[in-house]
Amino acid sequence: MQDTMDKKRILTGIVLENDEIAAGVYKMTVESVDGAPLAKPGQFVNVYTKDASLLLPRPISICFSDGAELTLVYGVVGKGTEEFSTYKRGDEVRHSMPQGNGYDLDAVKPGQKAMLLGGGIGVPPLLSLCYELTAREISVTAVIGFKDEPFLIKPLLKAGADLYVATDSGAVGFKGTVLDVLKNENLKGDAYFACGPRVMLKAVTEHVLAEGRDIQVSMEERMGCGYGACVGCVCDIQEKSGAGPASAAGGETIVKKKVCKDGPVFWGSEVVWDGK
Ligand SMILES: Cc1cc2nc3c(=O)[nH]c(=O)nc-3n(C[C@H](O)[C@H](O)[C@H](O)COP(=O)(O)OP(=O)(O)OC[C@H]3O[C@@H](n4cnc5c(N)ncnc54)[C@H](O)[C@@H]3O)c2cc1C
Ligand code: FES
Repeated sequence: MQDTMDKKRILTGIVLENDEIAAGVYKMTVESVDGAPLAKPGQFVNVYTKDASLLLPRPISICFSDGAELTLVYGVVGKGTEEFSTYKRGDEVRHSMPQGNGYDLDAVKPGQKAMLLGGGIGVPPLLSLCYELTAREISVTAVIGFKDEPFLIKPLLKAGADLYVATDSGAVGFKGTVLDVLKNENLKGDAYFACGPRVMLKAVTEHVLAEGRDIQVSMEERMGCGYGACVGCVCDIQEKSGAGPASAAGGETIVKKKVCKDGPVFWGSEVVWDGK
């Protein structure tokens, strides 16, 4: 109960910058007035609009947070994100964080190699993940894919990633998908982490499972309340006894899990990709 109240506690941030870093994609950094609670990579922020007709908060992944500043990278797709894109330095941003579970960082050990796979607007949470992993002396290879205009390249390099960029058009980097790069470059890791569109997550999960490993996927499904109180974000999860990386198949049950509360990160082997 206390946990739910903490998660719903509305914090105020003051916009430091809010710049368009690619067509229709903005990077907003806010200074935390109330102090930003510590967050794990893969957790997200519920951001409130000022428009009273848009009651529900918009979930945006934490791209970077150090307790003093919070950086979000978002694409403008509808009314809420369109409003965010108008914010100027000094404007207030009401938000609550951290939400969701985040990636399990203990799935990879110092000295091992982590593969980070991101597609489009799913790339932002990989930045904080990259910082956390390199700080633990885990080597990071990131493969990020876009339609035609990449972003967050310099920040990921600065965070220590060995970086591969793919675009559908071939305008920048490899022509093709993240999966094409994985296959063509024969890239492998000790642990895999992904965030992106469902179709990409499904494809990379199948690839990684075929290699005998499991992958943590962050599902950015459409949400409702953002706090576990409705069923706006459920997805089908095949629960295995002894769930975890490439766990042995035991008794399996399909259950509906809430992306906002039980996720957004799940094991790829557990997601029922052709389900809800
Ligand atoms: C856990 C999580 C983390 C997310 N992190 C990010 C992030 O870091 N950066 C970012 O840009 N976006 C992220 N999203 C998606 C973001 O929440 C939506 O784009 C946003 O809520 C849209 O709000 P809106 O008012 O602008 O659009 P709306 O008016 O609500 O919708 C506009 C259009 O976008 C579609 N849409 C809305 N939400 C989603 C969604 N989740 N997936 C696919 N289509 C959607 C609608 O169906 C509609 O067609 C995340 C979503 C989740 C669940
Ligand atoms: S958005 Fe309401 S339960 Fe997840």
